[in-house]
Amino acid sequence: AIKLVTTAAELRSEGARLLKEKGGSSLGFVPTMGALHSGHATLARTAVAANDVTAVSIFVNPLQFGDAVDLDRYPRTLEADMELLDAEGVDLVFAPAVEEVYPDGQPLVRVTSGPLGEKWEGASRPGHFDGALTVVAKLLHYALPAGPAADGGAAAYRAYFGQKDAQQLALVRRMVTDLNFPVEIVAVPTVRAEDGLALSSRNRFLSAEEREAALVLARALRLLEQRASAHEPLDLPSAVELVRSQPLVELDYFDVVDPRTLEPLAENCQDTPFRGEGLAIIAAKVGPVRLIDNIPLDS
Ligand code: PAJ
Repeated sequence: AIKLVTTAAELRSEGARLLKEKGGSSLGFVPTMGALHSGHATLARTAVAANDVTAVSIFVNPLQFGDAVDLDRYPRTLEADMELLDAEGVDLVFAPAVEEVYPDGQPLVRVTSGPLGEKWEGASRPGHFDGALTVVAKLLHYALPAGPAADGGAAAYRAYFGQKDAQQLALVRRMVTDLNFPVEIVAVPTVRAEDGLALSSRNRFLSAEEREAALVLARALRLLEQRASAHEPLDLPSAVELVRSQPLVELDYFDVVDPRTLEPLAENCQDTPFRGEGLAIIAAKVGPVRLIDNIPLDS
């Protein structure tokens, strides 16, 4: 059965105990902020399938929220989250209090996300990615299996992130590479509702009408994906026009970028057929909610 721990010490001892019990060759770790949906469930399922032991963290990280209202309003549904994770076969849940993670209040030393953290989402959410990377660094250290397998450690340590948050994923990859974190980062494709809307904890704040309007984001991305796989010109402006024709949607950005650097691939949006690897990224405000989505282009 799934076990809930709230302190770093318990996470370490329970993690070591479970690894020893189960042969101990790999640990899968899935960081989340709770309010779990099928997207998170898919991350958990992917981790469970590939590792002996899977741990999930649930922590609403104050450091990555711009304003206190948004932080307060973030849904907290621990009981339902535990049930969902139990059903996926997760072994351990780490749900620390804010004081456990930040005992001295805000940390003085933090991870800086640099220029990659300042564009796109970073432009409208200053400090967001520094806060997210700082807590991801801490969480990856909390869950890090200690020592060799025989002593309750693990030979492999893997952490799972959703493609849905493409910029966060790119930044976590860079942090792990640039700062030599001993963990393998695994990306999990975006999970969508049947109508195409990318699942997000924030979707619950959309009215029925707004939700219907929000579908234009996925529709516009799919249009680009179809053009890319047909080796046609992407014609980004026409896709932008499609989004702008929806009055309830206030477009922030929509571009085709390099999946690792998030630099625009302008030449691929012109009238030549799309070639290579790209990522179409979009963000818009729909009613009270800021939505992001993306689709990998490969051609
Ligand atoms: P949260 O928004 O709870 O997301 C946790 C993980 O689930 C992230 O890796 C995110 O990309 C993934 N995810 C969310 N919706 C998804 C979907 N529809 N399909 C696939 N994966 C999806 O992202 C965070 O929390 C935080 O920033 C965190 C990394 C935990 C640091 O605080």
